[in-house]
Amino acid sequence: MAKTTVSVIKADVGSLVGHHTVPEPLLRIAREELRRAREEGLINSYYVFNAGDDLELLMVHRRGEGNPEIHRLAWETFRKAAEKSRSLKLYAAGQDILKTAFSGNVKGMGPGVAEMEFEERPSDPVMVFAMDKTEPGAFNYPLFRAFADPFNTAGLIIDPAMAGGFKFEVFDLMESKKIVLKCPEEMYELLALIGSPGRYVVSRIWRASDDMVCASTSTTKLSLIAGKYVGKDDPVCVVRAQHGLPAVGEILAPFMHSYFVEGWMRGSHWGPLMPVGLKDSRCTVFDGPPRLVGLGFQVCEGAIASDDSGDPMVVDLFEDVAFDLARREAMEYMAVLRRMGEFEPARLAHDAMEYTTLPKVLERLKDRFRPA
Ligand code: 13P
Ligand code: 13P
Ligand code: MG
Ligand code: MG
Repeated sequence: MAKTTVSVIKADVGSLVGHHTVPEPLLRIAREELRRAREEGLINSYYVFNAGDDLELLMVHRRGEGNPEIHRLAWETFRKAAEKSRSLKLYAAGQDILKTAFSGNVKGMGPGVAEMEFEERPSDPVMVFAMDKTEPGAFNYPLFRAFADPFNTAGLIIDPAMAGGFKFEVFDLMESKKIVLKCPEEMYELLALIGSPGRYVVSRIWRASDDMVCASTSTTKLSLIAGKYVGKDDPVCVVRAQHGLPAVGEILAPFMHSYFVEGWMRGSHWGPLMPVGLKDSRCTVFDGPPRLVGLGFQVCEGAIASDDSGDPMVVDLFEDVAFDLARREAMEYMAVLRRMGEFEPARLAHDAMEYTTLPKVLERLKDRFRPA
């Protein structure tokens, strides 16, 4: 049977105002490009949205992961939107377009990518998550909770189809290496790595009993591509749910509370992650707090299941009042951290600041140090 691919490709191509949100003219360009690609039969469904200042392209098609035509479509869409952004003098126009010549895959060129190719089950619920003002490792905690923590996911205990556990692929961003660890057997080793989300990132998850793929995240580290601070990496993630996998509600349960992630102002601070509906997908206070949006849909014959008028049926997962507690917690944590100003742990640890603009400031003091 032909397989289905869910591709989420995103980039910050310019924002209104400062690093706040993606304005309508850019979203319109993206919708227009993807509509044309659907008419031409390249993709079967699309949904354009924003996570703060990041333009997010959700595409469902039959062409597999890393397909050059799909990646070119995303690349050209970002370039057109960046052009518009420049003409409007929007902020940081073309921010994530780090390279000029497209070579078949947007990975390593600035945009973030999460893709998953799979054989559709009789019913296959899919969730897409996107964060702004943080980094790929920010998904480590909720993915661990959903796929490995029996205090979060009842199915790990109750559903015999999950009894074999899940395998986690972890990327070492610094050394460009990866490793696969299996839970529950290697849970402690997994936590030893992914508890350092700035370096180790959960990139993929499979059900151990049959190697069925069930989660995929973006692993871009922009500063390592550009060699300097160029904004945070604002990650995306695709997850499949139900029927032998964690339920939609189990995958959402970790977001009942806020937790701390690296990013926020100038990519240099710890901040509380705030799950929000699409209408609140914007970053304000201290360029944040870091936001998370989530979409849910059913795949159907290589497309997003659509309504009678052909529009994809996509639900806005965090719009729900059940996440008000996390939002309130995020606001409280935000106030606590900001009272500390530029003192650690509000500001990132010294090592992590290496990838910001702080070293340039310290460089100026270099010659004034005397032996002590
Ligand atoms: P499944 O349909 O995935 O078995 O779901 C069980 C359930 O009720 C989860 O909320
Ligand atoms: P973005 O990575 O979302 O563009 O944010 C950059 C920044 O410096 C925010 O203060
Ligand atoms: Mg930006
Ligand atoms: Mg951003």
